[in-house]
Amino acid sequence: METLFIGKNMLFLPEVESTNTYAMNMLRNVNAIDGTVVYTDNQTHGKGQRGASWNSQIASNITTSIILKPTFLSVDDSFFLSKISALSIYDVLTGVLDNSHYDIKIKWPNDILVNSKKIAGILIENNYNANSLQYSVIGIGLNVNQTDFGPLEGIATSLKQITGKEYNRKELLEKLCSCLEKWYFALKSNKTAFITETYLDCIKGMNMRLSFKMPDNSVFQAKIVDVNREGKLCLEMDDLSIQHFEIKELQFIS
Ligand code: BTN
Repeated sequence: METLFIGKNMLFLPEVESTNTYAMNMLRNVNAIDGTVVYTDNQTHGKGQRGASWNSQIASNITTSIILKPTFLSVDDSFFLSKISALSIYDVLTGVLDNSHYDIKIKWPNDILVNSKKIAGILIENNYNANSLQYSVIGIGLNVNQTDFGPLEGIATSLKQITGKEYNRKELLEKLCSCLEKWYFALKSNKTAFITETYLDCIKGMNMRLSFKMPDNSVFQAKIVDVNREGKLCLEMDDLSIQHFEIKELQFIS
């Protein structure tokens, strides 16, 4: 491993309920080392965002949780962990796929898409201590060699489905660790403006007028202009006012 701390301690579990749950329990019950990486070939109850489940074909993909202790980060800045996690996956993918042939994007807040299909998802669990973060578990599911997505066909994809090639998952996991460490150090050394600028550059639909649906099914068009400190999507409405939305408050159409 060409990293200073992320992945120096790697824990492989052939099967586990969820690497995130396992890592959170480690942090509660034993003093897990900063940068510990838990990964598995089979999650029996993989967790997705907003209470969904994350299903991944056995021994085909990356299902990992990375333990970080970002005690330098205030609670108000915790969305930076989302940004740097998404950027790390983005970097791994641009290293593998030719950027000019494939459209690699971050779908706000932190899904990773290739040619408009989801290739990776992120689930971050944080533990706060007063006003700062005590520890975080960065859960990442990255589809690598799976080619059958069942009912998610057309919505989900993998590296192998895109290129037809088989990939070494351990090598990709190591690359992911080194990309995350690079962004984590950038965050630690306060390069927040650069992180935000790069994140916004990678956002799908940035500065574009798109159609959205509200929970009451009403549809509206607006331009994505920013993602604020809390991670809310900032939209410029028809009357030029800027409104902020949480993920559960709107759905992308198309
Ligand atoms: C999403 O819904 O997009 C987030 C998916 C996150 C899945 C990963 S797989 C490894 C880690 N352990 C889990 O239970 N979930 C995350």
